[in-house]
Amino acid sequence: MIVERIFTKCSVSLLDGINRETGEITQVGLDITGQNIANKEFRFEASTGSTVGVMTLLELKENGVAPKKIILGKPDSNVIAGCILAGIPIEIEGMMQVDLPESELKKIENIPDFLARILVSEAKIVGAKGFIHVDAVQISGVSYKTIGDAGLKMLRFFAEKKLTVKVPTTLNPAGMDLKEWKSQGIPHEFAEKQLEIIEIFKQIGASLTVSCIPYDIIPLKSGSHLAFGESSAVSFVNSVRGCYTNRENPIKGLIAALTGFTIEYGMHLIENRKPDTRVRVECSLKTESDHGALGYYVGKFSTIPVYEGITPNHRELKAIAAAGAASGAIPLFYVKGIHDPPEMPDDLRVINFTTRELKEVYDELNTTSDLPDLIAVGCPHFNLDDLKALEPLLKGKRMKIPFWINTASIFKEQAEEIGLKERLETTGVHVYSDCCMVVAPIEKMNFRITATNSAKAAKYLKTFCKQEVIFKPLVELIKIAEGKNLDS
Ligand code: F3S
Repeated sequence: MIVERIFTKCSVSLLDGINRETGEITQVGLDITGQNIANKEFRFEASTGSTVGVMTLLELKENGVAPKKIILGKPDSNVIAGCILAGIPIEIEGMMQVDLPESELKKIENIPDFLARILVSEAKIVGAKGFIHVDAVQISGVSYKTIGDAGLKMLRFFAEKKLTVKVPTTLNPAGMDLKEWKSQGIPHEFAEKQLEIIEIFKQIGASLTVSCIPYDIIPLKSGSHLAFGESSAVSFVNSVRGCYTNRENPIKGLIAALTGFTIEYGMHLIENRKPDTRVRVECSLKTESDHGALGYYVGKFSTIPVYEGITPNHRELKAIAAAGAASGAIPLFYVKGIHDPPEMPDDLRVINFTTRELKEVYDELNTTSDLPDLIAVGCPHFNLDDLKALEPLLKGKRMKIPFWINTASIFKEQAEEIGLKERLETTGVHVYSDCCMVVAPIEKMNFRITATNSAKAAKYLKTFCKQEVIFKPLVELIKIAEGKNLDS
């Protein structure tokens, strides 16, 4: 029997590019838009968009409109995991599957079969060495805004298996402060779904540390292997803490949590951690947002950069990590004199970062000069030191525009204990934990213009939250919130 084939060289968004009930390609602008993949061979390059788009494959299967086979142009962890869960045959063009030695298969012989099948299949497809035990897991895809009903369904599927975590597991931010969501203004229907997601994670034994800075909360030994999902945390722990982790999608994060194992390839191997670019910083970076701008610029050109000419503090390192993983996919960076690379090849590409490039990033990320209706800082989340550093900046001032400060619940509680939260909030700011302006449903809360000092947030506020964006240093945001002219 001849099987019809749908072919494109494009990548496809699984989350919103395919009609799950009919199998029709709905993503606009593709050469296969309008065609139907049901019961056909479907060749595409890879998936784009949210990693929870893998749920589409399960739903297509359930609805009897799944493709007969998927052929990918390049390995894509999300599609591979989704195909295995849905029972759709998958092939990567031009890639020979590598058999794994018995000793590697033995490592995972006691884990549930459906999880082992996903690990083994993906390990063979990506040519991995095998499997590696991880010391800690951080699962992404926690906000209902990012995973939607498809992601919630995936979580219910895992919850039904009644498995529990085998290693310490924390969670990425949710879409709301888990205690103060009502006063935060979160819509009720959103909160209900969000609370169900959190309940599922609680049932499987994950810690309700719901934050993008687990590295400031849990002890991590240099040299330890991890399975982290949040891209900024991946970049930070690989670069600053000397840990080893790939960026794990929500399914792989769950598998790592429930089994204690992940696939040993990519950033887990020393040979893949060599720098590819020297970045000569030839201007003075004065603020967290300047450092974010640097990371944002470099992320577009490099995968593993070495920065020269900067001495960033902890907060500024977080900004570099977050922005470089948002504009590009930097999983690891070095800073000369602070975190030097093990070797520095002579033939590295060189990028110069001057006042011109710095201005270019500010120009790109600022989309309006109107006044914001929300100001939000703490991306990545503030720790207690960051909250303490805010106090002198806010002292005696009165914020006239909603002003969110994102942190983790542990730091909010510590700030409460020492009276800091109350002192900060007397100025009109709100200290919210467990969430941030990007993964909260701000576009459904009547916010249209959001100001931030985070380059990462500025990017996603525009594309993911449909906001007009103001990207400025913290002191300027405080002036705006006070209703002052920035020139004064
Ligand atoms: Fe964290 Fe949200 Fe920024 S998850 S890194 S505060 S976009």
